[in-house]
Parts: sequence; C-alpha cells; structure tokens
Amino acid sequence: MFFPEAFINKMAKMLTEAELEKLKTALDTPLRKSIRVNTLRGTTKEVVESLESYEYVVDKMPWYKYGYFIKTAKKQAIGNTYDHYLGKIYVQEASSMLPVIALDPKEGEYILDMAAAPGSKTTQMCMHMKNTGIIVANEPSIQRISPLQDNLDRSGCINCCITRNDGRKFSHYTGMFDKVLLDAPCSGEGTFQKDIKARYVWSQNKVIENSRLQKQLLDSAIACTKKGGTIIYSTCTLSPEEDEAIIDYALNKYDNISLEKVSFEGLETSQGRTEFDGKEYNKEVKKVIKLWPQKTNIEGFFVCKMKIDE
Ligand SMILES: C[S@@+](CC[C@H](N)C(=O)[O-])C[C@H]1O[C@@H](n2cnc3c(N)ncnc32)[C@H](O)[C@@H]1O
Repeated sequence: MFFPEAFINKMAKMLTEAELEKLKTALDTPLRKSIRVNTLRGTTKEVVESLESYEYVVDKMPWYKYGYFIKTAKKQAIGNTYDHYLGKIYVQEASSMLPVIALDPKEGEYILDMAAAPGSKTTQMCMHMKNTGIIVANEPSIQRISPLQDNLDRSGCINCCITRNDGRKFSHYTGMFDKVLLDAPCSGEGTFQKDIKARYVWSQNKVIENSRLQKQLLDSAIACTKKGGTIIYSTCTLSPEEDEAIIDYALNKYDNISLEKVSFEGLETSQGRTEFDGKEYNKEVKKVIKLWPQKTNIEGFFVCKMKIDE
C-alpha cells in the first residue's frame, strides 16, 4: 500500500525497523469501528440492547464507560440505525474520545472548543456537562458549520453556541474560559488508517505550515484560559513538529503553564519524545501522550493536558 516516502523516512527516525513494519501493517489494517453512547438521549443499557438486536457485537472500551467497539456480520452501516438517527449513539473513533476524557468537563463550566467541527468532541463534552454551563463551539470553515449544527441538534445539545472565528482571535478574551479544547487542524497521519486519500495529500510542507498555525492557536488558548484553568491540545497526527514541538514552544515561551500526565485504563500510551531530528525538547514534554496504532489498535493520536498556574 502507498505511503509518502518522506512520511516513512520520518517515522524511521523514531521507530526501529521492526516497529516501522508494524506501523505500516497497522495503518493498512481496517480500523475497528466504534461508537459513543450519548446519555443525553439514552442509557448505555438500552443502546447496547438495541445494537445487539441488530446483530452487532458490542465490546466496551476498558478506559471509557460510554465507548464501545462494534462489529457486525451484516453489511448494515451503523449510521443507518435508529439509534444513530435518534442521537442515542455518536459514531466516533476511539482515539477521538480521549481528549474530552482528559479535559474532564464538569457541569456548569464555561468551555471553549476552539476547532469544533464536525462536533464529535463538542457533543461529548455537552453530554459530560449534562447540558449545563456553556460551550462555545468555534469553527472557521463555513462548509463545516452545518454538519456541526446537525450533530449538536441530533445529539440534543442545548448548552452550545456556535461561533465562526479564526481560533487565533480568542486571544482577545483574556482569562475567560474555565477550560479550552484545542483539537488542532493537523496533517492527519493518524487517519491514514481509514482514509487512504489522506496519504496522497500529505506533505512535509503542510506539516510545517500546520505547526505555525498550531503554535498561534495554542498561544490564543493560553491567553483565553483563566488562572487555574485547563487546556487540552490534541491532534490526530504523529509528526513531532505538530505535537511535542508545539508543547516545547509553549513551555519555553510561558512561565505560567505546567503539564499534567494523563493515562487511560487498559490503553498502552507512549510518552512524548524529548528530541527529534537533532532538536532537543523541554524534558516536561515526556508528560504528553502519543497513541501509536501498532501498539494500541486504535487511530494514531496525541494528547497534552496543560494547566494555567493560579
Ligand atoms: C481536527 S478538526 C476538529 C475536529 C473536531 N474537534 C471534532 O472532534 O469533531 C480541526 C478543525 O480545525 C478547523 N480549523 C482550521 N483552521 C482553524 C483556525 N485558524 N482556527 C480554528 N479552527 C481551525 C478546521 O476547519 C477543522 O474543522
């Protein structure tokens, strides 16, 4: 199967030959399908019973009580079930659920979802907050606003307001939010497993271009989070330039931030790298986590939890 040469060369700088082969095999293996139960619309018990009645085999994720892997011998797409139409389930990658688990949104909080569409994590936060507090769901792309709105409606989310701004603009709202989720636009190397087209549009130039924007978005997130507040920076990519290097940049620039380790029960996570391609990163970067598909059997992902000091 095709992989961009520059991507493989980069991965080879981080992995042994055997691990690199495992990564390629993992990326060429169909991704396990997964759903999140939306407790704003139904209980886990009723959803599991309903999916089993459609002959789905439902397997709970050890690290998340609302997350399930699903299999079916039939060809029926999960998106064609009543549970999906009625908003009782949300079809969401297992990795994509992790940033919200790490952010731990609570009832009554004021949260910014800086890059929100199509709303997987907005709807997940809304569910954790039991539709209380406020989520500002921001998305600059006009084409992506309507899927975001549809997903909020289908999921029964009534604590969200959608804004259409460049995320960098939020730097003007100093210390406003309790928590900020920055699920950053990225080169999507983690999605190579389910989306072959992503491999063809990938380039190292795009990685570098993304990393510039990601730094500016993180600057904005740091500015608009209140003292004692929390930021999650996440990507669905594996390139250190978009992951560890962004956190290293922030640690070197700000003296009022610190990192917190996150872990997920039963999930093998890898700590952040402290060097890449001749560049040394701040040692604190070890606290971030990387999900390698060859180790986890879920999509590649990166999650960093950051606190603004009191
Ligand atoms: C990884 S996707 C977000 C996925 C979403 N959080 C979810 O879980 O459904 C990144 C999003 O960032 C948006 N984006 C691109 N440039 C941006 C910017 N300057 N400010 C904020 N968002 C941006 C993209 O349009 C895209 O929708």
